[in-house]
Amino acid sequence: MGWSSWNTYRVNISDSLIMQQADAMVAKGLHKMGYKYINIDDGYFGGRNQKSGRLLIHPTRFPRGLKPVVEHIHGLGLKAGIYSDAGANTCGCKYDNDTIARGVGLYGHDQQDADMFFKELGFDFIKIDFCGGSSTGNNDYLALDPQERYTAIRQAILNTGRKDVRMNVCRWNYPGTWVKDIAQSWRMSHDISARWSSVKDIIQQNLYLSAYAKDGHYNDMDMLEVGRMLTAEEDRTHFGIWCIMSSPLLIGCDMTKLKPETLELLKNQELIALNQDSLGLQAYVAKHNQKNGTYVLVKDILQTHGLTRAVALYNPTDVPTSVSIDFADLELGGQVKVRDVFARTDIKLSKGAVGLEETVPAHGCRIYTLTASKRLTRKRYEAETAWLSAYQELYNAKAIGTAYYEKDSLCSGGMKVTNLGHRPDNDLQWQDVYVEEDGLYQITVKCPSFPNEAQLYIAENCEAGQRFTPKDSSDDNISVQLRLRKGQNTIRLYNDHGPMPEIDYMKME
Ligand code: GLA
Repeated sequence: MGWSSWNTYRVNISDSLIMQQADAMVAKGLHKMGYKYINIDDGYFGGRNQKSGRLLIHPTRFPRGLKPVVEHIHGLGLKAGIYSDAGANTCGCKYDNDTIARGVGLYGHDQQDADMFFKELGFDFIKIDFCGGSSTGNNDYLALDPQERYTAIRQAILNTGRKDVRMNVCRWNYPGTWVKDIAQSWRMSHDISARWSSVKDIIQQNLYLSAYAKDGHYNDMDMLEVGRMLTAEEDRTHFGIWCIMSSPLLIGCDMTKLKPETLELLKNQELIALNQDSLGLQAYVAKHNQKNGTYVLVKDILQTHGLTRAVALYNPTDVPTSVSIDFADLELGGQVKVRDVFARTDIKLSKGAVGLEETVPAHGCRIYTLTASKRLTRKRYEAETAWLSAYQELYNAKAIGTAYYEKDSLCSGGMKVTNLGHRPDNDLQWQDVYVEEDGLYQITVKCPSFPNEAQLYIAENCEAGQRFTPKDSSDDNISVQLRLRKGQNTIRLYNDHGPMPEIDYMKME
């Protein structure tokens, strides 16, 4: 949580501007709600010393260099963030014509720059872009390997002796499962802008990435446009969904001129609690109504498989639309209490209510915490909530043979997973299969079709898998009994040597 200079100021930043924003964060009490990073984005570069290669700081925007700015931020009890690029050039030098910033990226200078940022200047966070690394994003036509570059940079940061530096990978799509070993967060979309269509697209892109947000690593939906040009309803949806999806929350507006309603939203303690919840989960799609285009998202908070869950009813369409879900489909039973986290009030349910039903305004969402007297066992695990070990969005998945989530209106939830198999790591795993008791469970895997040449191995908790071929399927369903242990289990579908059928969902009884 924090603030970043990019959305409002682009490259037009200065030392006084950054320090004023840091002051405003404290004056407005935002630091008390958990906002603590002040991140300097692109725009501070001043070229490199031709002889030593040392990075220079912009002579008029930061005439005294960065040190006094970092000291000011630290003096307020906040943390300081910086920006660079894995290639030779940053995006600003191309797209914002900041020509002084040529050759200022980390490429060829990993250790030199890491020493300067973290040992000498004391920064606590770095966002690392890739404009200079992709052949189309820069004037040098460098084509670098993202995994190699980000791994080398992480090593250079560790070499400084600082183990606490947080790193954000900015590659504009989900980079690949390797990223969790390197960064605390990674962008999964192109740049946000202060338009509803942009916010909606990013949410859409993040709907099926919930499996990759865990253990202190998060999908970064980009800096907040809250308090700029969106309507009040859109601002609430934007902030609320960023919260329930556990995205980093980096304020992107001018904090010296916050409207009261913006400040109130950014300081909503109950929404922030969903974002900062200790389980660190990203809400997944519990229901997608393909007819009216709405979604219900859910995640556990406080305790895995406990009695409290956070739920969003989300209407991305341009007309008010009814969004509904049964409590049983949220795995909640007995008495259910509902709290509206936007209004911060408890809601009185009508007698005998078996679920939630609301007409949600266009571009709107409702976010609730639900506390039930009974937790029900999850019966259905959609393929689009599963972890795909080889999942990535940087290269054409068909060309390089990695599995992906695909729309299919005939599948449940309108989604399936395709292109699985052929190698051990191109598998699908439900890593969150939770049962109350040790025992044998009946599992049914629904495949939209089971081609003749395909095979499917099903395994639980690292056991050797049982093999299935089309003749074992009835109506493209595969049934198997698995021994699961009390608590969390992993069910893995794979075929090391050949194709697998597409997967729609798994049912457990
Ligand atoms: C890229 C990033 C943005 C911002 C700019 C700076 O476009 O995705 O978030 O950092 O570069 O030039």
